[in-house]
Amino acid sequence: MKAKILLILFFIAMVVAACGQKKEKTRNSLKISTAPFGNMPDGTPITLFTLVNSNGMIVKITNYGAIVQSLTAPDKNGKFEDVTLGYDKLEDYIRDKSYFGCIVGRFGNRIAKGKFTLDGVEYTLATNNGPNHLHGGIKGFNKVVWDAEPIKNRESVGVKLTYLSKDGEEGYPGNLHCTVMYTLTNHNEMQIEYKATTDKATPVNLTHHSYFNLSGNGRRNILDQQLWINADFYTPVDETLIPTGELAPVKDTPFDFTKPTAIGARIHDKNQQLEYGHGYDHNWVLNDADGSLKLQASLYDPVSGRLMEIYTEEPGLQFYSGNFLDGSIIGKYGVRYTRNYCAVLETQHFPDSPNQLNFPSTILRPGETYHTVTIYKFLTK
Ligand code: GLA
Repeated sequence: MKAKILLILFFIAMVVAACGQKKEKTRNSLKISTAPFGNMPDGTPITLFTLVNSNGMIVKITNYGAIVQSLTAPDKNGKFEDVTLGYDKLEDYIRDKSYFGCIVGRFGNRIAKGKFTLDGVEYTLATNNGPNHLHGGIKGFNKVVWDAEPIKNRESVGVKLTYLSKDGEEGYPGNLHCTVMYTLTNHNEMQIEYKATTDKATPVNLTHHSYFNLSGNGRRNILDQQLWINADFYTPVDETLIPTGELAPVKDTPFDFTKPTAIGARIHDKNQQLEYGHGYDHNWVLNDADGSLKLQASLYDPVSGRLMEIYTEEPGLQFYSGNFLDGSIIGKYGVRYTRNYCAVLETQHFPDSPNQLNFPSTILRPGETYHTVTIYKFLTK
C-alpha cells in the first residue's frame, strides 16, 4: 500500500515537473514570422518580418528600405507600446521623404555640393537637399528592395538583409555589397550589424534612421524626454547643414547633453546653430570612440519610465529632433506628426567626411571590410 502511494506521489511529481518545463519553454520562446507587406509598383512582393522575444517585445522589419516598421518596449508598468514613428502601409513608405525607420546609405547625412575627390578623381553625386547630397541621394538604400532571410538563434531572432549597390549608383564608385543584420535579443536589445565590401575605393557611412518617441504609440512630443550624449564636442554647421570643420565644445551651449537634459529645455534658445538646424540637427563627437562597442547615449521618458540606451562603435551621433515634421503626415495610430515629435539618433561617421580630411575617414577600399555594430537597448527606471 505504502509503495503504491509513493509510486502515485512520484508520478504526480513527474507530471508537475514536466508541466513546469513546458511553461519555461513557452516563456523563452523566441519567434519570427513573415507576412506579405504589399507589392512594389513593378509587382515585386515585399515582406514584413515580425520578431518577438521571450519578454514579448516585438520588432517588425520590412525588406523595403530595410525599414523598422515598428518596435515595442515596456513602460514602468510592463506595458509594451510602439516607440517609433512610421506608417502602416508600404505605399506610404514608398511616398515618404522623411526616412522613417530605414537604413541610410551609401552615405548617411550630407556631402557638400554632392562632390568629393578620392585618389585624385572628382566624383559628382546626386544632389537632393538644396545644393547638397543627403542620405545616399535621390534613390538611397531606403528606397530599394533588399534580399532578406530570417535568422533564429538560441538567444535571439533576426533578419539578414543584403543589397548590392552597383558601381555608379547615385554617382558613387564601386560595387558595394552590403549586409545589415537586425537582431532582437532576450535582453530587449535591437542590435544592428553592418558589413560592406567594395571593388573600388568609395565612401561608406551606413546608419539607422528610426524616429524614436518613448511616450508610447506617439502620444506626446519628445520635448520632455531626457537625452544624454557622451560628447564634449560637436560639429557646428553652415546654413546648409554642412560641418564647418570645427570641433566646438558643447560646454555652456544648448548642445551640452553630457548630463541627461530635457530636449525642450534649450531648443528655443537664441542660438545661430539651432537656427540653422531649425532645432537640433547636428552631429556630436562621441568621447573615447576607439572602435569598440560603448554606451554613448540614452533617451529617457520620465512619464512612461522607458529608457533607451545606445551602444555603438561609431565616432559620431546625429541627433535630429524632427524639425521638418510640419503636421502634414498622419502616421501609425492616426497620430499627426508635428515638429519635435521624435528623436532620431543616428550613429555614424561625421557628415561630409569625404571632404573634411580632419574627420575620421569613411573610405572603404577593395580587400577591406566595413564592419560596425550599434545596439538600441530598452529598459525602464
Ligand atoms: C537627417 C538630416 C535631417 C533630415 C532628416 C530626414 O537626420 O540631418 O536634416 O534630412 O534626416 O528628414
